[in-house]
Amino acid sequence: MSSSQTFKTKYGPWALVTGAAWGMGTEFARQIGALGLNLILVDIRGDELAQVAEEVRKSSGVEVKTVVTDLSRLEFIETLRRETEGADIGLLVSNAAYPPVGLFFEQSLEDKLRMIEVNCRAPLLLVQEFGAKMLARKRGGIILVSSGSALQGVAYISSYAATKAYNLILAESLWDELREHNVDVLGFMPGATRTTGFVLSKPHLGRSTVASIMEPKPTVAEALKALGRTPSWIPGRRNRWTLTVAQRLLPRKLMIKLVGSNMRKWYGK
Ligand SMILES: NC(=O)c1ccc[n+]([C@@H]2O[C@H](COP(=O)([O-])OP(=O)(O)OC[C@H]3O[C@@H](n4cnc5c(N)ncnc54)[C@H](OP(=O)(O)O)[C@@H]3O)[C@@H](O)[C@H]2O)c1
Repeated sequence: MSSSQTFKTKYGPWALVTGAAWGMGTEFARQIGALGLNLILVDIRGDELAQVAEEVRKSSGVEVKTVVTDLSRLEFIETLRRETEGADIGLLVSNAAYPPVGLFFEQSLEDKLRMIEVNCRAPLLLVQEFGAKMLARKRGGIILVSSGSALQGVAYISSYAATKAYNLILAESLWDELREHNVDVLGFMPGATRTTGFVLSKPHLGRSTVASIMEPKPTVAEALKALGRTPSWIPGRRNRWTLTVAQRLLPRKLMIKLVGSNMRKWYGK
């Protein structure tokens, strides 16, 4: 059996990807479609989502449905339940996130609460809804997109980083709980990745040479490869080295300062 057949048998016939209108979500849609799974693509941006759906239908020949909904609203899960009725979803990619950049006391409380809704409550509801079905059918895969920022405190994205830690720990815990039920779970921790969202955050990249910026295509390919092999994964050799080796060698205080110093260069005035 080829690796794409194995992937389809394990995680098909349908996959659901949130935040698919652009960035890594679009790349997840492309690569999962190319592996032969039908797709349900979810995003708040209807026009861009329709374009991605059309592109994936043409390039992969799979069935693609779109659901335009706001994941910050509690009712989104009922919309998804209704819209996905009859689709046997074997793969969930919880990818959408709300990632505003700024110092904690310069961000509004409303913004911080929205981060909890989109980045924590929505993945929780998605796992509750679709993970339960995978558990019952004894087959499936769940990718919770976290971030390298989940591993330590990060100035300028304090609340966002905290929400990403929630995803990482939830994913790793579920990896252990669900593995005996043949459901694979992955906490995926990209570093800086050149997506639309990242570019729109306007980092002053020239001010720092420490961090490497990855492209969405190889980043997402690593997620799909890591699913079923490990509880969590950092894409990119350089990111893996920086985050894992440095985490082990450096005192946590120093690590937080180093990461913060890079953020000050990128986003400070
Ligand atoms: N790019 C990076 O450097 C990086 C690094 C580490 C981790 N990550 C993680 O990787 C994932 C994808 O990031 P990305 O950079 O590809 O993001 P992106 O380019 O900003 O795309 C995310 C998509 O999700 C949508 N979305 C956001 N809030 C939503 C909501 N409430 N309901 C429905 N859709 C919503 C966005 O729409 P709007 O644009 O209208 O909000 C956008 O279409 C995120 O979980 C992010 O935290 C990214």
